Amino acid sequence: MSVSDLASMKGKEKIAVLTAYDYSTSLICDRAGVDVMLVGDSAGMVVLGHPSTAPVNMPEMLMFCGAVARGAKRAMIVGDMPFGSYQPSTSLAIENAIQFIKAGCDAVKLEGGAEIAVKVKAIVDAGVPVMGHIGLKPQTSSLWEGYRLQGKTAESAARLFQDAKALENAGVFSIVFEMVASEAAEMITKKVSVPTIGIGSGPGCDGQVLVLHDLLGIYEDIKPRFVRRYAELAKPILDAVTSYAQDVKAGQFPGEQNTFHMDPNEAGKMGRKK
Ligand code: KIV
Repeated sequence: MSVSDLASMKGKEKIAVLTAYDYSTSLICDRAGVDVMLVGDSAGMVVLGHPSTAPVNMPEMLMFCGAVARGAKRAMIVGDMPFGSYQPSTSLAIENAIQFIKAGCDAVKLEGGAEIAVKVKAIVDAGVPVMGHIGLKPQTSSLWEGYRLQGKTAESAARLFQDAKALENAGVFSIVFEMVASEAAEMITKKVSVPTIGIGSGPGCDGQVLVLHDLLGIYEDIKPRFVRRYAELAKPILDAVTSYAQDVKAGQFPGEQNTFHMDPNEAGKMGRKK
């Protein structure tokens, strides 16, 4: 999947985006037909156990990105630039964006609207495709307005539209809308030329993204209303691991089929009966 493949899907075919953080799930998501795998900084919460995405750093993100890239044959891989990796300066933003490409990504994502348009343009001019992210911005929302629905009034929808336009003019190939009122998300989707990807932003976007661990029912700390849990895997995983621990303690694992043996003559030399 390339930037132009995605562009040609706008208005014709919905785009399926999902987060991925490791090789094994990347293989599965790619095989399942996911169009874009976002190596989100949500990894900081669902994989690393931080209370927010803010603590995630570049080496951690690059390690996740490399693993996902090694598992993907078809899907586009988008690396999420972590908090602090693009804010200090345009040159740092370009350098770090390039690190994502070297790690195997096809594009990067940055949170922000008009205020980061100059940096977005500089990264695009350096040859790196950029996905925008407006609405709720988890890296900084908790420091300002809190985790709240965005675009609830005509005035705030108009501000989001200006942000989307600024990003479009800066050259993004797509924009994520997070927790944007569906009417606002649909209106902006119709007015921008690039595909919009919604999370908690209703059905009017050009595509949808979810966090893999939410979809699978593995991450249980937070359960946002916009998530559809397609499986409840926390319980079967708990049951399997509990059975394993019990089997080890009861001496029932490993069994004969899990055990490797010496040649009986060699074992005999150690004083073992055949
Ligand atoms: O980090 C992430 O997973 C994201 C998505 C929620 C869009 O940014």
